[in-house]
Amino acid sequence: MANKAKLEALLTLINTSARDAIALYEKYGDVPAIDQTGPHPLDNAVDQVALKSAIRTLEGASAQLCTTLAPPSHTAINLVQVYDHACVRVVAREGVSDILLKYPKGIHVNKLSKKINIEPKKLARIMRLLATKGCYNEVDTDVFANNRLSLILLDENPVKHMILLHVELISKGASVFYETLKDPKIAYSYDPTVAPVMYSIDKDGIEGTVFDWMARHDGQRESYHVSMRSLNTIMGSLAVLAHFPFGKYSTVVDVGGVQARDIWARDCPEAVAEDRVEFEDLNFFEQVPVKGKDVYYLRNIIHDWPDNESALILSNVRKALGPNSRVLIHDYVLLQLSRKQAVIEASELGTAPEPLLANFGVGSMRSYQQDMTMLFAHNARERTLQDSLALATAAGLKLEKVWDLAESCVLEYSAA
Ligand SMILES: C[S@@+](CC[C@H](N)C(=O)[O-])C[C@H]1O[C@@H](n2cnc3c(N)ncnc32)[C@H](O)[C@@H]1O
Repeated sequence: MANKAKLEALLTLINTSARDAIALYEKYGDVPAIDQTGPHPLDNAVDQVALKSAIRTLEGASAQLCTTLAPPSHTAINLVQVYDHACVRVVAREGVSDILLKYPKGIHVNKLSKKINIEPKKLARIMRLLATKGCYNEVDTDVFANNRLSLILLDENPVKHMILLHVELISKGASVFYETLKDPKIAYSYDPTVAPVMYSIDKDGIEGTVFDWMARHDGQRESYHVSMRSLNTIMGSLAVLAHFPFGKYSTVVDVGGVQARDIWARDCPEAVAEDRVEFEDLNFFEQVPVKGKDVYYLRNIIHDWPDNESALILSNVRKALGPNSRVLIHDYVLLQLSRKQAVIEASELGTAPEPLLANFGVGSMRSYQQDMTMLFAHNARERTLQDSLALATAAGLKLEKVWDLAESCVLEYSAA
């Protein structure tokens, strides 16, 4: 494709994918606006696969077009002057979105400054940077109000916990990442106890893995557990309920579920009262889950572990399987950037339309970012389909079906 034709094709992709997204919003209500002050009904829909799919192309094509046309040094500095995390940390820690709930018409930064004890002119700059990215509305000079995006930072929202986990813990690993790659003692190690986050916080070398460390820090552990619920919408994982035929099966084992007892008691007490749900503490490295059930569901479990540990978890799950059991591994599946390899996997995962990068480029950014999160926190990784199949095959599992949810992906296996 000639260069100009590539640009025209990107423009067409932007146009069609944006129109697809608009049509989806219109099914649920009005189209959203950047300064919208409330959520849109589609924001919390269980099944966001069609929207995620349209946005993947839209984000990928828009970023690719900008990168192609902008001066390269301008794009290069954009790679590193990303201070959103420092600014989001301030507003999240200080509960600015919760405060703004009482000021639907906006609050002047001088008044906000007194409430949270942050110097007003600095605060104005923080708020302006965020509002420029679409988080908060600057309704008048130095007067800020909530909008659809800033409402995500409310205390009650699990996404806020995921944000704090990133800006306060994962960022520590990011800041020493280079050093860990060069430190001869650990550079070639995939031991979770020396992952960059642990390298940065474990001065005495006694803390173990991030999970061991959290076991001794109640506040961190609680917040981590709450943050996991945010993956329902961040990764769009809840769509599994709409796509996988759970109705065909009668028993599901959630291996490595979070705070299961508390959450079932709170959200589904009738299931607990009617004995439709059982709880069992399980160390998935040392124990086999309850045997012979229909479905073993592992969401965001395997990506937490390097290959050796993942193989151990899968081999323990394998021992529990009956002839008709299924294992569902629900994580990101990293798309291939080489078009040659992407085409090989296209029948399972689709492939981005040309001239988009074969993995949808920036449209798939969250999966590559989370791959780094896993490396920083656990010396672990997100995996390609090839990587996952190699692990599962070695554990005696056979791929039955790929459930591509346009962002997260469910790999369905049976006993080989
Ligand atoms: C990334 S979270 C995912 C939680 C949940 N499946 C979800 O998707 O929300 C990983 C979970 O693995 C649990 N975990 C860590 N080590 C474990 C072990 N050895 N045995 C069982 N669970 C473990 C953690 O407590 C945490 O709840």
